[in-house]
Amino acid sequence: MREVMYLSKPSFIEAIKRNQTNIDTIHYNNETFVSLFLNNPTLKERLIKNNSFYIKTHGCQANIRDEESIAGLLASLGLKRVEKIEEASIIVINTCSVRENANNKVYAEIGNIKRLKEKNKDLVLILCGCMVETKDTLNNLITKYPYIDIIFGTHNIDNLLNLLYLYMENNNKKRIVDVSSKEGEIVEDIPTRRNNSYSAYVNITFGCDKFCTYCIVPQTRGKERSRDKEDILKECKLLLSLGYKEIILLGQNVDSYGKDLKDKNITFASLLDSVASLPIKRVRFLTSYPSEFSDEVIDVIAKHDNIMKYIHLPVQSGSNSVLKRMARRYTKEEYLALVDRIKAKIPDVALSTDIIVGFPNESEEEFLDTLDLIKKVKYASAFTFIYSPREGTAAAKLDDKISDKEKVERFKRLTDELEKYYPLYNASFINKVEEVLVTSVSKKDKNKVSGVMFNNKIVNFNGDPSLIGKIVKVKILEDKLYSFNGEMVE
Ligand code: 5AD
Ligand code: SF4
Repeated sequence: MREVMYLSKPSFIEAIKRNQTNIDTIHYNNETFVSLFLNNPTLKERLIKNNSFYIKTHGCQANIRDEESIAGLLASLGLKRVEKIEEASIIVINTCSVRENANNKVYAEIGNIKRLKEKNKDLVLILCGCMVETKDTLNNLITKYPYIDIIFGTHNIDNLLNLLYLYMENNNKKRIVDVSSKEGEIVEDIPTRRNNSYSAYVNITFGCDKFCTYCIVPQTRGKERSRDKEDILKECKLLLSLGYKEIILLGQNVDSYGKDLKDKNITFASLLDSVASLPIKRVRFLTSYPSEFSDEVIDVIAKHDNIMKYIHLPVQSGSNSVLKRMARRYTKEEYLALVDRIKAKIPDVALSTDIIVGFPNESEEEFLDTLDLIKKVKYASAFTFIYSPREGTAAAKLDDKISDKEKVERFKRLTDELEKYYPLYNASFINKVEEVLVTSVSKKDKNKVSGVMFNNKIVNFNGDPSLIGKIVKVKILEDKLYSFNGEMVE
């Protein structure tokens, strides 16, 4: 087997530690790493010959934002991003491990890359993201896929150029692994290549301290830590000066923002108020945690026209006993009371959610409580999942008497219940003119473009690619359940 050089290894004990009170902010200095390559003529030449990289990202918005840092770091070496994997000299697979099927996609993908590695001995295959953060999965990747060259964790992105240097310097012989489990720090100033020039993700918190019993994220991304408010505002102002139309504030739980900062007056409500006071067209935020969603946040959303009236409020289950087993810190009644408070102050709000079916030993009665909650909330949209046990989480240790067949049936009943209410919500937009941020050419029809309404619903309409990145007025004509057809009016 190819030798492995470990700079650090994952540790479950370290990953779930929550002792640190002061979080360090580190300012990344790219020149140090770039000069490693510039001062080495052989490597400099190799980079000139093999000058392209390809990145594939799986999973959530946090991973998409990480992809932009990885792209920024590689671009700082003068490398160019390519969209075709066959054209790349460096391939980065940015993985997700929130459910087993996310892992399976990655295994299939790296299996396919083997033939590219056989053709080109200088091709560098890099794996990163949440999947490499657990010991057993990492060991499996190392033993079964000897052609993976570099593996680094979510805490080690800022070390990427150093890892690439070490790998190339030892002439592709040793494989390099840097996956350090730690509570984490905040690294500012990592070079960034954004995926587009109109809508930008801005991290406000990293990590998560909630430890919902089904979820792997607190283990893979470390302690919850807030970025300095001034650093966030500086990034937003820069985006504004670059012409960005939309800013999406990101955190596993945005409502916890500020709780670890010294200045106790800084809260998510105050941050959101400051960001929305900038002359940016659209502000969004993801994800909210029901029991921490404050009335101040509701007031700030109601106050600013540029905060999209779309709230993603994961409920996970409508059953109090399941919520307790999931260690979610609210009841069905408290969640519904919050929804009432939101609807009272923001009447046109679009509510969306995440729901898991088939949590270990979920009874029929408990499942019916979820259907009942859906009937009461009438979501505008939702993301639904079948529970997937994750190594190292508390729920993975529970035995489960519910069959897979039952879970699949419930999943179907869940979707049917949610879909009863979408047409009611969607009907209110027919023949109305809505602002739409155009994001792409339509996948189904080259003469059409797709865009996003305030409520995160997709609208397709006749238009050309020059509209991408613009906010245009569209008359909504037809409800397609998960999207609309419309017609541009100006
Ligand atoms: N199984 C199924 N769904 C999960 N989610 C998180 N962990 C799991 C799991 N183990 C879902 C939750 C979360 C969303 C991002 O993914 O609903 O809100
Ligand atoms: Fe996972 Fe719960 Fe944290 Fe969300 S709040 S990332 S579901 S542990």
